[in-house]
Amino acid sequence: MGLGVVGGGVAAALLGQQDEISRKIGRPMILKKILVRDPDKLREPPIPADLLTTNPEDILTNQSIHVVVEVMGGTQPAAGYLEDALSAGKHVVTANKEVMAKHGPELMSLAQDNDVNLLFEASVGGGIPIVGCLMNELLANEVHSIRGIINGTTNYILTRMANHFTEFHQALAEAQERGYAEADPTNDIDGMDAAYKLAILASLAYHQHIQPGDVYRQGIGSLEAKDFRYAKELGYAIKSLAIATRENGAILARVHPSLVPLDHMLAKVDGVYNAVEVEGDLCGRVLFHGLGAGREPTTSAVVGDLIEISRKIGADGRPTPMAQLDGADSIRPIDDMVSRYYLRLTVADHAGVLAEIARILGDGNISIASVLQKDTDPATKTAEIVITTHPAREASVQESLRLVAGLEVVREVNNLLRIEE
Ligand SMILES: NC(=O)c1ccc[n+]([C@@H]2O[C@H](COP(=O)([O-])OP(=O)(O)OC[C@H]3O[C@@H](n4cnc5c(N)ncnc54)[C@H](OP(=O)(O)O)[C@@H]3O)[C@@H](O)[C@H]2O)c1
Repeated sequence: MGLGVVGGGVAAALLGQQDEISRKIGRPMILKKILVRDPDKLREPPIPADLLTTNPEDILTNQSIHVVVEVMGGTQPAAGYLEDALSAGKHVVTANKEVMAKHGPELMSLAQDNDVNLLFEASVGGGIPIVGCLMNELLANEVHSIRGIINGTTNYILTRMANHFTEFHQALAEAQERGYAEADPTNDIDGMDAAYKLAILASLAYHQHIQPGDVYRQGIGSLEAKDFRYAKELGYAIKSLAIATRENGAILARVHPSLVPLDHMLAKVDGVYNAVEVEGDLCGRVLFHGLGAGREPTTSAVVGDLIEISRKIGADGRPTPMAQLDGADSIRPIDDMVSRYYLRLTVADHAGVLAEIARILGDGNISIASVLQKDTDPATKTAEIVITTHPAREASVQESLRLVAGLEVVREVNNLLRIEE
């Protein structure tokens, strides 16, 4: 179902490498039907017209179809088709992060009830095999944390801003020109896409349904080239990180720009590359790195799932039990988080300003680690200061920042970023 960027790649692989794939499985794998919206659209590679249909029932009620691949995207009608396919006893492979993040548990129990497989490796990290690893190879671990760069569009933009001190809107326009960002990039820029993916990873790691709405989100739109300059001076890169942690029976999931030490591996993940670091009690830190989107990497994940299912059907026809998401940990609000912070302010350029700000931060139990004074502007009689803090509680930082913003000498609070050690 779907013959776009991903579906086109999957169809090309199934049609072009049918013999090789069939050999890997030990039985033929045949592409029977492809659901599209517009059967007259020009396709690359060309697809035999008799394979195309605009009627989902040609697939969902076709007894000779054993596996359905959903690569349409969006929640509806995709989620409804997945339910129908599973209810009809068909195995399912999907690349749909939005559906899996929102409806994963229902679909997984439907798969279980109908004795079929539901695999979704391509929903996170394109060609990086992270989903299957969390469901299988890393299952012995208690997962301490997941930290990842799981949106290639934002990582491309941040890399441009860091390496060339390009401003956000220019970097976004370049990403759009090169096909790395969609015409409407909102879902990427505001962290929604990463929140869907983190919800999937955290659900698998912590064995309970983490909803996309449980993920705290801050987009990258407020970053300016100067933040990258200051961060570098302080020894950090700025990356949009997706982070899930569990402490004392509570799970905190968040997506936001973070300062990452320049010598950390995640600081070196550039351009459209993705990386996910999983820290487990047994495996220690494991790093997955690779292309997180695009036709070929995503095809690798979808066809890999298809082969896995087909091998299982070949064995005894019984599916592997689905991951159990029956945990009941609470979701920790970001207010309780303790982190170090980077704060950039524009202030009146006269004596005593820093003392006023330091007093408010001190009252909030926030201790200052470093101060940089930058870019004095004689015309507006303002100066820019960058403060980093020692570990402090998010709620006190937000409250102190509200008070700081109200000071007469403070012209603007430009940015508050969290530092990830
Ligand atoms: N693109 C990537 O790199 C990537 C990476 C990982 C995961 N994914 C996920 O993979 C899925 C597909 O992404 P994509 O980039 O391949 O999307 P896409 O290029 O927009 O393709 C969507 C395809 O689905 C068909 N379609 C959409 N709605 C339909 C409907 N109601 N009925 C019938 N056909 C319908 C379209 O048909 P027409 O061609 O006739 O318009 C099109 O062929 C999404 O869930 C996405 O999040 C994508």
